[in-house]
Amino acid sequence: QLKQSAVSRINSQDADIEQLRVKLLGKKGELTALLKGMKDVAAENRKAVGEIGNDVRQTITELLAEKKAAEAEAALSKQLEAEKIDVTMPGTKALIGQPHVLQQIIDEIEQHFLGLGFQVIDDTVDSPEVETDEYNFERENLPKDHPARDMQDTFYITPEILLRTQTSPVQSRSLEKHDFSKGPLKMIAPGKVYRRDTDDATHSHQFHQVEGMVVGENITMADLKGTLLSVMQELFGEKHQIRMRPSYFPFTEPSVEVDVSWDEVTPDTKPEDIKWIEVLGAGMTHPNVLRMDGVDPEKYSGFAFGLGPDRLAMLKYGVDDIRQFYLNDVRFLSQFNRKG
Ligand code: PHE
Repeated sequence: QLKQSAVSRINSQDADIEQLRVKLLGKKGELTALLKGMKDVAAENRKAVGEIGNDVRQTITELLAEKKAAEAEAALSKQLEAEKIDVTMPGTKALIGQPHVLQQIIDEIEQHFLGLGFQVIDDTVDSPEVETDEYNFERENLPKDHPARDMQDTFYITPEILLRTQTSPVQSRSLEKHDFSKGPLKMIAPGKVYRRDTDDATHSHQFHQVEGMVVGENITMADLKGTLLSVMQELFGEKHQIRMRPSYFPFTEPSVEVDVSWDEVTPDTKPEDIKWIEVLGAGMTHPNVLRMDGVDPEKYSGFAFGLGPDRLAMLKYGVDDIRQFYLNDVRFLSQFNRKG
């Protein structure tokens, strides 16, 4: 009787297995109570009653275990169902950064010159942004009263210390260190420069330059032109041409301004159809500069040039406001992904 009622209770839909186990088999359970009554059973019947009791216990125990296992399995399926992942759903794309567009141009220039066997001077020891008047101006052949000092309005920190207005002081810092018995000096120096300009679409008080210099035996203007043509073709494409116009810089003589053709130039292009845009200043290193940096101008000659990555990036990508480069708006910057 107990067995039957137990079986039906265990099988019923909303049975709480643990509660039933206590109720049926626990210390104060129904079966236990039954077995406790053994002492009142006649001796000859005890064995039979005991067997029935054991049978009932075993049946109940097995049934309970089965039911428990079934419940655990159901719970597991339910959990798996809830945690199911649809691997075919489109994912959320992680935003990955990229080098700043100016850094991309500078990297491209660096790679080009490394390929030509130049060294890249970029550490703060050999190319400081906080410079002395001596390196920024005097060693660049601009003594204190030189009128060309006005060409570059300067942020002075003290009368002798300033924010460099150009990367040209790295010319002197490299020349005075170079050991010419080991061959010519061939270097580029990318970096930031500062001028007291009012910011507008074409002026920024902070911008970038890549200085370049080659000094050695028999370095000529042809070497300068070939070097500049190669880097301009790297940046603008192989079919672009350059031209040089006379100009003036205190530290080069002769000095030139260099233009690059806006469009590709083929053998059929008429010279008058070429649209030239100014991209950089350059020239043959002034003997005074060599002399001040301890290099004999009778023995060695060289050239120098100054590229402007900001201007190059504006031309290359059609950016019409230099201030865009310094606002760090990712919507602007993410347009320039060199991976395409
Ligand atoms: N330093 C010059 C400038 O800032 C550019 C330049 C560099 C010109 C080297 C000639 C040679 O305008």
